[in-house]
Amino acid sequence: MRYLELDGVKLSVVGLGCWQFGERGWGYGQEFGPKDSLAIIRRALELGVTVLDTAELYGWGASEGLVGAAIQDWDEPIFLASKFLPLMPVPGVMEAHCRRSLERLDRTALDLYQVHFPNPLVPLGVQMDGLRRVLKEGLSRHVGVSNFSLSRWRRAERLLGSPIISNQVRYNLLQRKPEQGLIDFASRTSHLIIAYSPLAQGALSGRYRKGEVPAGVRKNNPLFTDEGLAAAEPVVESLREVAAAHGATPSQIALAYLIAQPRVLVIPGAKSIAQLEANVAAAEIRLAPEEILALRRAADLFQMSKGRMAAQMLGGFLRQGEPTTA
Ligand SMILES: NC(=O)c1ccc[n+]([C@@H]2O[C@H](COP(=O)([O-])OP(=O)(O)OC[C@H]3O[C@@H](n4cnc5c(N)ncnc54)[C@H](OP(=O)(O)O)[C@@H]3O)[C@@H](O)[C@H]2O)c1
Repeated sequence: MRYLELDGVKLSVVGLGCWQFGERGWGYGQEFGPKDSLAIIRRALELGVTVLDTAELYGWGASEGLVGAAIQDWDEPIFLASKFLPLMPVPGVMEAHCRRSLERLDRTALDLYQVHFPNPLVPLGVQMDGLRRVLKEGLSRHVGVSNFSLSRWRRAERLLGSPIISNQVRYNLLQRKPEQGLIDFASRTSHLIIAYSPLAQGALSGRYRKGEVPAGVRKNNPLFTDEGLAAAEPVVESLREVAAAHGATPSQIALAYLIAQPRVLVIPGAKSIAQLEANVAAAEIRLAPEEILALRRAADLFQMSKGRMAAQMLGGFLRQGEPTTA
């Protein structure tokens, strides 16, 4: 495993996204269950993963419960991140929600408490009062944001008056917006970009094709439409070519590309130990500059109809984080 450093704490460049655990829309309860989830989280820790990312939203707290159970008697340092669902992002509510997350996680403090997505209806200053309260109460060592633009991130930090150390954003070879400023800012200021959906929710694995697409939380993801799959195919093909040279899989190369960027760590989700182990092993892959260039060239050509992409952006916050459990 390779690590980034934050105040002397080691952050694995490959973390574990925990949305899958407790979330029916990802096949939890059918394809895999609580035992598998606990085993995946434990295996991740054994392999040197220190970053675990969950949220109160995932499985309506079920993910936090599973993570809490899995880490209960783990003595090595971990970097535990959760997220606040910002429907009412005011200090009292934020503190109460953070405390409830901590109860489910069976911890006294988080390492990172993140605002899950922007809420434009509540003044940003009020939301930052909430994060300040969480820090002051010692409920989290650091705070972060998610799905924030660069300007909103910087403004939030100014209002908080202390570092907002990370921005968790969608970042994969098909969705490279963070390369337009966010990564540069993070690397200049020693902040972090936490890349979610780094495998484009599996679209970069090369496993899906017309007529064989996933349902559940991904059923509205335009990357799995006929058009999306066709548009992504050259990128997947480029991943396959680079993968062949490394004896790796397209998914592993997709992750290796992201962690080759400064101050970026990835949090792929996994539904089996095999997926987890493959994702962790990607941390050891070092891409040559010409391989990165080849992947970028293929990705530059990726285009879907503007309408579909706009719909994706619009529905993004809801679809990406929303639970589908009843
Ligand atoms: N902040 C936010 O708004 C936000 C939004 C979304 C996600 N997240 C976080 O980011 C994490 C990851 O994002 P994500 O779950 O959306 O997408 P992802 O990590 O890109 O995709 C995960 C899915 O890809 C497939 N997969 C995983 N490893 C694989 C491998 N080695 N080979 C082939 N397929 C593999 C699995 O699904 P199949 O096997 O079924 O294909 C898995 O469930 C989440 O768990 C969550 O913690 C945050």
